[in-house]
Amino acid sequence: MKATSPERVLLEKQKLVEISIALTSETDLHRLLSRIITELRGLTGAQGGSLYLCAQARLTFEVAQNDIIACTADHELACFKYQDLPINDNSLAGYVALTGQLLNIPDVYELSPALPYHFDPSFDQRTGYRTRSMLVAPLKDHQGEIVGVLQLLNAVGSNGEIQSFSKEDETLVLALASQAAVAINTVRLIATIRELFESLVVYSVSAIDARSPYTAGHSRRVAAYSLALAQAVNACQEGPLAAVTFSEPELEELRFSAWLHDIGKIGVRDALLDKKNKLTDQEMEAIRWRFCLASWQSSDPTERQALQEDLVFLQRLNALPYLPPEAPARLAQIAAKHLTGPERRGTAAEAEGLLRVDCPLLTSAELAALLVSHGNLTSREYAEIQGHALQTLHILEKIPFSQSLARVPRFAAYHHERLDGTGYPFHLTAAALPYQARILAIADVFDALTASDRPYRTGASCDSALHVLEEEAAKGRLDKDLVELFISGRVYEQVLAGAAPA
Ligand SMILES: [Fe+2]
Ligand SMILES: [Fe+2]
Repeated sequence: MKATSPERVLLEKQKLVEISIALTSETDLHRLLSRIITELRGLTGAQGGSLYLCAQARLTFEVAQNDIIACTADHELACFKYQDLPINDNSLAGYVALTGQLLNIPDVYELSPALPYHFDPSFDQRTGYRTRSMLVAPLKDHQGEIVGVLQLLNAVGSNGEIQSFSKEDETLVLALASQAAVAINTVRLIATIRELFESLVVYSVSAIDARSPYTAGHSRRVAAYSLALAQAVNACQEGPLAAVTFSEPELEELRFSAWLHDIGKIGVRDALLDKKNKLTDQEMEAIRWRFCLASWQSSDPTERQALQEDLVFLQRLNALPYLPPEAPARLAQIAAKHLTGPERRGTAAEAEGLLRVDCPLLTSAELAALLVSHGNLTSREYAEIQGHALQTLHILEKIPFSQSLARVPRFAAYHHERLDGTGYPFHLTAAALPYQARILAIADVFDALTASDRPYRTGASCDSALHVLEEEAAKGRLDKDLVELFISGRVYEQVLAGAAPA
């Protein structure tokens, strides 16, 4: 109900200031639109109101409110059955969107048939409600673009009677409508930038992961596991994690951290990512050619037989994830052999001093790779792969993240840190590792173990992967409470089933 005139003027002024501040601080589009209608109804005493936004030559229905026909937000569409409208002069909202003119109608049932627009009575017919006065206003932004249309209906006078909207109402609505339009544009722009950034992250990270079939899909799954675990923490009612909660912006920050955690792998060579043996395929092929040449040059059948056996030994050793005790001595023997070619005569060869080809059958780098006692990576290769965590930090630190995503570089770069200080690259300990980094570490280990496409192992079964997590937690490397929740809450199941969003 409208207040009396002097009070109303003061109230309106205060309200306008409040609403202006509120509109600029709202970041959720639906909440913003609802707020616009609520506030305008408060200012004009309208019983109901609705709002449409312009999108691709149509008006899309967004919000409806009515004091008499009470509906919850979830049921707005079903209850009001408003539909999207074409932008033409058939409907009141369409006409306003088309012309930019405000309509102030005392009684929608008294509209002249000569007018191009008409009132759609279907809502009244469905609900028994009687619409009488209507104020239909364009939401024009600062450039005069029409962003949408708002409709206020049935202004209630101080006597409780339905009356027409006043000239004062028109001024108020138009003043606020332009601010609302700017606020709507801002929220939409933020949403567009966010979607753009999201697409860039998802597609660039997926492309990096897809460089190797062994890492394809890894970051997406780590994001899904991390989100699922964080949501499980939020749902925790008891135990040490009951006091830990992640807000919506924090969940978003964690999600981006997970998506981006391995972005530093962009600097790791493909051959290393795909490496399944001690030597790369190219290195093994080069060795094979050297042995072929040496065998071809030799006229001694015993020597040729020995070369053949050496090559078979190297090929077997190459595929072993360990170093047999007899291997170092045999390798030393092979490494001492040389491939020597016939003397090359000719100006160019002589000028270069290359009169005779003489190279070892195994280079020092190949020898070092074959002497690796555990796994298939040399210490240099390990260092190169481990360097990706630091690279992740360097890359992400250059991105001007918004305030709410400011910790993404740190969370992402800490995914190989361990609570006992045995991780890398900074050897941080528990006190310096936030929950987000701990969650990422668990998600990363679990996916590394269960993804069946790793080069150095076939996917461990889910149970044995969970067992490894428990062991790591028992050793004080992973967070015990989080691992326990991950397992007892069967957090991983929805991701493995492909049901959890990333
Ligand atoms: Fe990593
Ligand atoms: Fe990873």
